[in-house]
Formats: sequence, structure tokens, C-alpha cells
Amino acid sequence: MMQSLNRFVLDITVAILDFLYQGRDYQRFWVLEEIARAPYFAFLSVLHFRESMGLRGPEHLQLMKQHFEQSVNETEHLEYMESRGGNRYFIDRFVAKHLVLIYYWSNVVYYWVAPRYAYHLSYEVEIHAAETYAKYLALNGHDDKILEILNDELEHSRELQQSMEMI
Ligand SMILES: [Fe+2]
Ligand SMILES: [Fe+2]
Repeated sequence: MMQSLNRFVLDITVAILDFLYQGRDYQRFWVLEEIARAPYFAFLSVLHFRESMGLRGPEHLQLMKQHFEQSVNETEHLEYMESRGGNRYFIDRFVAKHLVLIYYWSNVVYYWVAPRYAYHLSYEVEIHAAETYAKYLALNGHDDKILEILNDELEHSRELQQSMEMI
């Protein structure tokens, strides 16, 4: 039920972004990367907070390390998109910064009340990101850096699947 809701919300959001960002690949990638990294620091925030409240579980340390690495990796993706002009325009920065504000806090609440489903949402987002880069490669030819980022997103989706089983 929650998983279908995750997919539904994601599909709508993606359809809107795809429509708005037609023909502006790097701007779209930049917005997607900006949004996709927010859950990782939302997860970290909640894990830190739970820890401070004396609610540290045996899986905490591993999850915290993993989410920290994921957030650093997503920041590297973001920097690459910036080097390709993804954040050149005010409108894209404006859209991304407002979306990320909503998305970060939604993920804090979601992860607090239903961590497995919060992981599932990000899992779907990572799969979508990998598909987005795969489509780009199919249309634009080989690009080592995009391929590397695509593989990172697949790795994130695998890690999220493991986290789903741990928590
Ligand atoms: Fe990414
Ligand atoms: Fe990712």
C-alpha cells in the first residue's frame, strides 16, 4: 500500500519535472541530484536524534556510515552537474531549493515513523535516477562520467535494499 503510494507520488513528480526540463538535461540532472541527496541527511538526522534519545540499535553505526558515504557521493554528483552548468539559472536553483526543503522534512518524518517505507521511496528514486542516466546515454552516446554516476545510483539502490532488511 505505502509502496504503491511511494511509486505514485514519484511518478507524478517525475512526470512534472520531465515536462518542465525537456531538452535541458544537465539542469534536470542537477535538480534531481539536489533532491536525491536530501533523504540521506534526513536519515542521518533521525539516526543521530534517536541515538541522543538513547534509542541506538545494533544497526545504527553501519547505517550512519552508509548514509554519510551516500550523501558525500551524491554531493560529488551534484558538483559534476554544476561543472556542466546544471545550476547556472536562478529558476533551477529556486525550484531545487524549495523542493529540497519540503523533501528533506518529509523524509525526516517518514523515516521516523516508517523507516522501511522511507528507504523504499529512496530506492525507487535511485532506480529512477539510474534509468534517467541510461536514457541519456542511449540518446547521446558514450559518456564515462555519466556511466560512473549511473553505477553509483545502482549501488545506492542495492544498499537501500539491504538497509530495508536491516531495520
Ligand atoms: Fe546521484
Ligand atoms: Fe544516488
